[in-house]
Amino acid sequence: MSISGRDIITLENLSDGEILQIFETADKFEPVARGKEKSDVLEGKIIGALFFEPSTRTRLSFKSAAKRLGGGTIGFAEAGVSSTAKGESLADTVRTVENYCDAIILRHPKMGSAKFAAEMVEVPVINAGDGAGHHPTQTLLDLYTMRKATGDLEHFDLGLVGDLKYGRTVHSLAYAITRFIPKLFLISPPSLKMPSEIVGDLSDRGVEVVETSNLEAILPELDILYVTRIQKERFPDPAEYEEIKGTYRVDPELLQEAKPELSVLHPLPRVDEISPEVDSTPYSMYFDQVFNGVIVRMALLSMLIG
Ligand code: NCD
Repeated sequence: MSISGRDIITLENLSDGEILQIFETADKFEPVARGKEKSDVLEGKIIGALFFEPSTRTRLSFKSAAKRLGGGTIGFAEAGVSSTAKGESLADTVRTVENYCDAIILRHPKMGSAKFAAEMVEVPVINAGDGAGHHPTQTLLDLYTMRKATGDLEHFDLGLVGDLKYGRTVHSLAYAITRFIPKLFLISPPSLKMPSEIVGDLSDRGVEVVETSNLEAILPELDILYVTRIQKERFPDPAEYEEIKGTYRVDPELLQEAKPELSVLHPLPRVDEISPEVDSTPYSMYFDQVFNGVIVRMALLSMLIG
């Protein structure tokens, strides 16, 4: 079983066994990610990181992962400094960059852009977020964190809350986690519900989907609460965002109703949907997710091009 050379556009590109193999590899990289051991599995390899949208964690954790493994990165963090600003197409950009590197990591505002790029080039393409589409490597680190928090990937009740319409992290996560758990709670304002195609796909696969806007009512049932930001930049009408922002706020008062062992996850960045007072409580797992992002991406890169 090898994922060498494969594109990662959605997690449908990986089997359950391959996902678990990534997690086992990630465990081994922990001392390397902490700077305690050295590794050269990516020696001589170059990763092209093309980010047409803002990013802190995804871009920097990929760069950190590549460097910790002895590889290098090239790329840009905004479209404005690339020839895109001169009118170059995405196709020409990726066809160019593949001459400089062994894999391309792409974040782009357009849904379907990573799949399109993968059709244009020979090197593996990793989708680092395509508009409101998918974000498979975020999901890998989310699954890894859930597995660490609960001991497996099968025995917990999970609720996704926030912007389920535009949030790409929850789109990828909804598909991937329901390969392991039979039921999913979806909590959002009525106008930001999970797209009906995704809910339909999950139902077709026999998943029990519970949709509600009432977080307080569902919270006591959950073992994991996955909180997301309202995706301001994806609203066609800014007035609509203004109306809906601040709908959910996870704070110590709300958490009084939660199970003591609840884990609160968030892909970050947060705006105001989790109060900072939650950070120092045992519920908070979102900065663990940040570290797990490095080791999971180390594992993925080593297995794709190492
Ligand atoms: C997410 C993204 O870009 O989709 N961020 C991330 O990669 N950790 C979530 C978000 O922007 O809300």
